[in-house]
Amino acid sequence: MSATPERPGDCNIAVLASRVGADEKRLFDAFDRRGVPFEHVDTRRQWFLAGRRDLPWQLALNREIGQVRAAYAARCLAAAGVEVVNSADATEVCGDKWRTTMALEAAGVPTPRTALGLTPEAALAALDSVGYPALIKPLVGSWGRLVVPLPDRASAEAVLEYAAALPGPQSHLGYVQELIEKPDRDIRVIVVGGQVLGAVYRTGESLRTNVALGGQTRPCEVTPEIDKLSLTAAATVGADIAGVDLIEDRDGRLLVLEVNHRVEFSGFQSALGDRVDVADHIVDHLLERAQR
Ligand SMILES: Nc1ncnc2c1ncn2[C@@H]1O[C@H](COP(=O)(O)OP(=O)(O)O)[C@@H](O)[C@H]1O
Ligand SMILES: [Mg+2]
Repeated sequence: MSATPERPGDCNIAVLASRVGADEKRLFDAFDRRGVPFEHVDTRRQWFLAGRRDLPWQLALNREIGQVRAAYAARCLAAAGVEVVNSADATEVCGDKWRTTMALEAAGVPTPRTALGLTPEAALAALDSVGYPALIKPLVGSWGRLVVPLPDRASAEAVLEYAAALPGPQSHLGYVQELIEKPDRDIRVIVVGGQVLGAVYRTGESLRTNVALGGQTRPCEVTPEIDKLSLTAAATVGADIAGVDLIEDRDGRLLVLEVNHRVEFSGFQSALGDRVDVADHIVDHLLERAQR
């Protein structure tokens, strides 16, 4: 699926993705509806020559699903003078839960109490400070994978023993967080170009409400608080296009859990239906950026 610019003045837009899923198809359709040419760049075949700046694209939408590949692609494109959305910085910060936490804390954005242990033993000590119940999460990960509740010290010891036995230095870093006593729902907000497109509640069978784990979505009213917090969170991590995850604590206070730089929007779109078209908004925003 690719198209070459035909009309003079057309901007050259790349959509980077190794996997073309439902969301990418929606984006491609949104380009087609506008008659705007774009090129689907399969990241599995893409390479970059250091120092070469003559890439054919002016702007690239990064939909690469693999975090390492997404971050390197963003760096290569930026070095070659291509405007990449989201930026390489945002991709790196959002793709790493600890870097996200540090950015949110530095900006005073409310987020659960979180600590990073540099070894599994240190993570256990950190948990004594964070308190139980808690959770442990992989630094890089999504869809709720390996997000494990730790109700008490005994469960933490068991999980950290497994972590210590895993290969790879990253698995030995313990990202631990207080477990927020939340209602059986999360809030997912999509931000595009400094504007909140809408919000949905996500509910699931378990603590993790990720749509990838079968979480259900329904519309959520965008209150002024949701609006402000989501825009602040997206801006804090530098994400132009963002899926902001919020949870409510026992007192109804909103906390930012994470900001997704490659937002998946099927669940959001099916809950909000005709009210908003995420792909249309993303493509319009890209075209606006390309014309700046
Ligand atoms: N501190 C927490 N307190 C309560 N629930 C949490 C907490 N952190 C995560 N969860 C639940 O687990 C899900 C996955 O966690 P998240 O940090 O968003 O990781 P992922 O990147 O895998 O989606 C969240 O959507 C939320 O429902
Ligand atoms: Mg999440």
